[in-house]
Amino acid sequence: MSAIRSVVRGVGSYLPARCLTNADLAQMVDTSDEWIVQRTGIRTRHIAAEGEVTSDLAIHAARAALADAGLTPDDIDLIVLATSTPDNTFPATAVSVQAGLGITHGAAFDLQAVCSGFVFALATADNFLKTGAYRRCLVIGAETFSRILDWSDRTTCVLFGDGAGALVLEAVRDEEEGRGVLTSHLRSDGRHKNKLYVDGGVSSTRSVGFLRMEGREVFRHAVGMITDVIVDAFEATGESADTIDWFVPHQANRRIIDASAVKLGIAPEKVVITVDQHGNTSAASIPLALAAAHADGRIKRGDLVLLEAMGGGFTWASALVRW
Ligand SMILES: CC(C)(COP(=O)(O)OP(=O)(O)OC[C@H]1O[C@@H](n2cnc3c(N)ncnc32)[C@H](O)[C@@H]1OP(=O)(O)O)[C@@H](O)C(=O)NCCC(=O)NCCS
Repeated sequence: MSAIRSVVRGVGSYLPARCLTNADLAQMVDTSDEWIVQRTGIRTRHIAAEGEVTSDLAIHAARAALADAGLTPDDIDLIVLATSTPDNTFPATAVSVQAGLGITHGAAFDLQAVCSGFVFALATADNFLKTGAYRRCLVIGAETFSRILDWSDRTTCVLFGDGAGALVLEAVRDEEEGRGVLTSHLRSDGRHKNKLYVDGGVSSTRSVGFLRMEGREVFRHAVGMITDVIVDAFEATGESADTIDWFVPHQANRRIIDASAVKLGIAPEKVVITVDQHGNTSAASIPLALAAAHADGRIKRGDLVLLEAMGGGFTWASALVRW
C-alpha cells in the first residue's frame, strides 16, 4: 500500500508594524530592560494596531506562505488555525481567514491548545492529509495576546507579543526523499490548568478576562515536559540530537530554550531563536521562527527540523519534520 506524507510546501509569517521595546514597557510598569533581558531574553515585541484582529494577521501570514509555495488560495482545501485569541467567540477565526482568502470549498476550523497550539494543529492537519481526505492544508498559528494582557501586571505583560505564521502542507503519495512530517507527540495534563490561564471566559464570566500565570511553576515544569516529548520523537524515529539540523522551539523564554537544548545535547548553533524580537506569541511563535529561519536560508529542503512547545493546560508537544 502506498503511503501519504504531509510535506511542507511553503512558510510565511506576519508581524504587526508597531514594536514595543523593553524601554517602552519600563515607562508603563516598574520594570527594566536589564530585568526582562536577563530573565527572558526578550528585547522587543510587536503589538497589533487598534482594529487589527487575529484573522488579519493570519491572512497576511497565509498569503506569504502561499506565495512561498507558489500556490493560490484555490489550491487549499483545509485550514487548521491555532489560536487562544480568536476574533470572536464564534465563528472560528479560521472561517474569516478562509473568506478573506476567497476560498469557498473545503473546511476551516480553529484549534485551542494555547502555546502548544501550532504543534497540535500540525499533527491534526497531518492526520487529515494522511487519510486522503484533504489535499493541501494551511496550518496557521495566529495570536493577539496583547488583548488579554493586564498591562498593569509587570509579571506577565512584558512576556508576550502578537503575530502570525503559516505553513502549507501538501499530501504527497510515495514521497521519495523522505520529506514530510515524520512524527508528532501531543500531551496534556489538566491538573496544571490553574498555573497559566485567563481569568474570564464565555461560560464562566461572560467576559474575556486577563492572562494569569504562576511563572515559577511554569518554569519548573517546562524543561522536563519539553525534553520528555522530544525523547518520544527521537525514539519513534531513531533520530537524535546529533542528526537533527534545526531545533525550532516554542519561543517563550530564552532560559527555558537554552536549558532544554543543554539537557538534550542539542548544539547551540542548531537552535533557532526569535524570542528576543517577538516575545512569546503563543501559537504563532513556532511558525514565525520557521519563517525567519527559512527566509534567511538556514532551513533548507531536506533538513531535519525538530519542533517543540509547552503551554497552558498544561499542554506540550513535539514534531519532527523533514523539510
Ligand atoms: C516569569 C519569569 C520570567 C519570572 O522570572 P523569575 O526568575 O521566576 O522571577 P520571580 O517570579 O521569582 O520574581 C523575582 C522578582 O522579580 C520581580 N518581577 C517580576 N516581574 C518583573 C518585571 N517585569 N520587572 C522587574 N521585576 C519583576 C518579582 O516581583 C520578584 O520580586 P520579589 O523577589 O521582590 O518578590 C519566569 O518565571 C518564567 O519565565 N516563567 C515561565 C513563563 C513562561 O514562559 N510562560 C509561558 C509558557 S508558554
